[in-house]
Parts: sequence; structure tokens; C-alpha cells
Amino acid sequence: MKYMFITPSYLHLEYAYLEQGKTRLLVRKHWQESLGAALLNKGDMVPLSSTSGRDTVYTFDFEDSKALLREYCRGGAIRWFTTRSFLLVNRPLRELAVLEYLFLHGFPCPEPLGIRWECVGPIFRGAIATRFIEGENLLHLVTGGAPLDERVFHEIGVLIRRMHDLGVYHADLHIGNIILVNQGAYLIDFDKAKQFGTLDQRKRAQNLMRLYRSFRKHRIPLNFFRTVVVGYDWRSAFPSLCKIYSKVGLGQKNRPDVEMR
Ligand SMILES: Nc1ncnc2c1ncn2[C@@H]1O[C@H](COP(=O)(O)OP(=O)(O)O)[C@@H](O)[C@H]1O
Ligand SMILES: [Mg+2]
Repeated sequence: MKYMFITPSYLHLEYAYLEQGKTRLLVRKHWQESLGAALLNKGDMVPLSSTSGRDTVYTFDFEDSKALLREYCRGGAIRWFTTRSFLLVNRPLRELAVLEYLFLHGFPCPEPLGIRWECVGPIFRGAIATRFIEGENLLHLVTGGAPLDERVFHEIGVLIRRMHDLGVYHADLHIGNIILVNQGAYLIDFDKAKQFGTLDQRKRAQNLMRLYRSFRKHRIPLNFFRTVVVGYDWRSAFPSLCKIYSKVGLGQKNRPDVEMR
């Protein structure tokens, strides 16, 4: 395969680029051969059941560990009609850029490895490969009835705050997109995530509210969500909310950051 070596202005790692018919590949230069082979054919792929069912997810052997390949499917009513296709927007490239940005800032997210895309007229389809994170999906732990450790939720709050302070808005922040590794947590699934210079209070609150809904849906005790908000340090992130609280003279016990210990 004949690769060109490029780094588009909005990316920072070194990539190898390949055009093959209508297919385009952008893979990390260091592992171009193995990643190119993996993204071009699903030979030794092991299917992984996806939480949302929207996308198709596989794992494959990569270096001494595993990597993950996710194909983008179009959801919604026209799914049967446009499976694995979507219009005009290069979703894998957008996700790769956000992941690379977070990864290079030392944020616990999957390391981006490469993408594939094809344009057939106005129809677009593609896939992304990332390093596999060996851990437990928080959703699986919760639905399996595993005991929950409050420190993990504090760590999740700290992590979300870090992501927001880096200017990243996660488009689907629910418990199925959090992977626990020992005492730490990783955030995954940055499809449709957006990068801003600074993230406003509204976007921050939208992410937290999405997470709150998934806590409610899976009946996770709300004191754990409060611990997330304490880890997030909501006071410094939502100054206008603090102002309202102090204006209306809300007592300590009515504030959302009641300390647990
Ligand atoms: N880098 C990764 N490492 C380990 N598991 C992953 C990784 N990315 C995704 N998964 C697993 O695959 C599932 C589906 O992937 P995800 O990126 O959330 O796509 P979607 O929600 O669109 O199906 C996740 O719930 C998670 O358990
Ligand atoms: Mg997901």
C-alpha cells in the first residue's frame, strides 16, 4: 500500500494517508501497516456488543494489546435505508481530532489510532480505531449489581471538570460511556463531541444533566451524583448559580453540594 505522510493543520500526531478507490485512510504513521489492514478489512475482528446499538464495534489484536474499531451507523427512522452512511459530515475525522486533543493533554480517553472513510456521492460512511481500554463499563457494573465506591464518583466529577476546562463538550455523557480501571476512570465515545475555546455554563450543565438522567434511569442512589458534582467543584464552574443562591439566601442544606462526609 502506498501511503503519503501528512499531518493536517488541525492534527498534531504523525499520520499516514492512503487513497484506495473511493476509500480514504488516515492512520498513525508508526503502525501504518497493521492499522491500514485492520481498517480495510475485518478479517480478525471480534464483534463487541455495543451499548447503544447504533454503531458496530469490533476488537482486534494490536501490538501487545487490543484495539477497537467502531463503524458509524446512521440511527433513526431511515436507518434501514442508509445503514452505515451519513451525509456530508466526516464524523470519524471529527472524533479523531477531539480524541487526539484530549489524549495529548494526558486526559484519560482512548488513544486515537486511525480512521477510514468513503464518499459515494453525497453519502458518507466511515470507521475509527482506538486503543482498547481494559476495564469495566460503569453501566455493566451498575446493571450487574456491583457495589459502588463513592471515590470513583468523585473521580468522575474531577474528570468531567477537566474535560470541560479543556473546552470539550461530550455529546452523550451517560454512565455507559465511562470505563473504570482500578481506581481511575476513562471517558469514551467522543462521537459528535465538540471543542470550544471555553465551554460556557450552559454546555457544562447540559453534560451534567445528561449524566444525571442516566443515574436516574439506572436507579443509582443520588448521593453518588452529588459526589460527582462535588468532584466537579460546581461552585467555581457555575458562578451565576452561586450568585442566585446567595441572593435568595438558600441555606446550606438546600444547596446541591452538601458534603457527604
Ligand atoms: N476504547 C475502548 N476501550 C474499551 N471498550 C470500549 C472502547 N470504546 C468503546 N468501548 C465499548 O464499546 C461500547 C460501544 O462503544 P461506544 O464508543 O460507546 O459507541 P456507541 O455508544 O455509539 O455504540 C462501549 O459501551 C464500551 O463498553
Ligand atoms: Mg457509547
